[in-house]
Amino acid sequence: MIMETAKRTDGIDNSAVKTLRVAIDGPAGAGKSTVAQLVAKRLGLLYIDTGAMYRAATWLAVKNGIDVKDGDAIAKAAGEAVIKLEPGDETSSNRVRVFVDEHEVTQAIRSHEISELVSPVSVHSPLRKVMVAQQKELAKRGGVVLDGRDIGTVVMPDADIKIYLTASTKVRAQRRMKDQEALGENPDYNKLVAAIAERDNRDSTRADSPLKQADDAIAIITDNMSIDQVVDAVVRLCVGE
Ligand code: CDP
Repeated sequence: MIMETAKRTDGIDNSAVKTLRVAIDGPAGAGKSTVAQLVAKRLGLLYIDTGAMYRAATWLAVKNGIDVKDGDAIAKAAGEAVIKLEPGDETSSNRVRVFVDEHEVTQAIRSHEISELVSPVSVHSPLRKVMVAQQKELAKRGGVVLDGRDIGTVVMPDADIKIYLTASTKVRAQRRMKDQEALGENPDYNKLVAAIAERDNRDSTRADSPLKQADDAIAIITDNMSIDQVVDAVVRLCVGE
């Protein structure tokens, strides 16, 4: 996989912060992507949405008619593709823009279909090997915020700051409902709760790099916190306040 990412933003002027490596992990709907993106912007770091990479690989598998159980074929297709992440803007509701070869898949990778398939696709070790190698390479220089499931445990076990963001299943389902409504979908709340519980279960029980709080991660429970409050808390930890 040839992976490209866009440049860093300016952020605050503090050279110690500029080389930080920040890991943010947690279950679906805890607010990781939004928080990670805003923290990166505030601190002038590069944001890498690893979930978007697994979603792009899932989109590619569906497009090529590959069976989601065929880990080798999925890894091969992802390895041969050019996956590109660019900072979000108003055209993408501020979410990272994602390209697979010549296709923009920013919206498509957030669909219900891909959200259902991404977790079964992400269990495959051959695919994880391709993805993790690329993520380690991007993180090597420092000055990065990565979010995902295995960042503090596998991708950057030596990260400077490790955050584990979580919230109750109910709150996470409510947040997901809003996301999907914004995409013009008509989600059923109870089905969303069940889907989130199933994804949590699959992500935390898989053999290869399960979702798990790293021993040295700081847990933030976001049920009663606004995005701004969570971002402030993470930024304070990063600048050592
Ligand atoms: O945004 P949301 O929390 O729904 O998920 P995401 O971060 O886009 O990740 C989607 C799925 O990709 C997760 O449920 C995991 O199955 C997988 N994933 C992973 O296995 N490892 C990562 N580092 C990131 C995502």
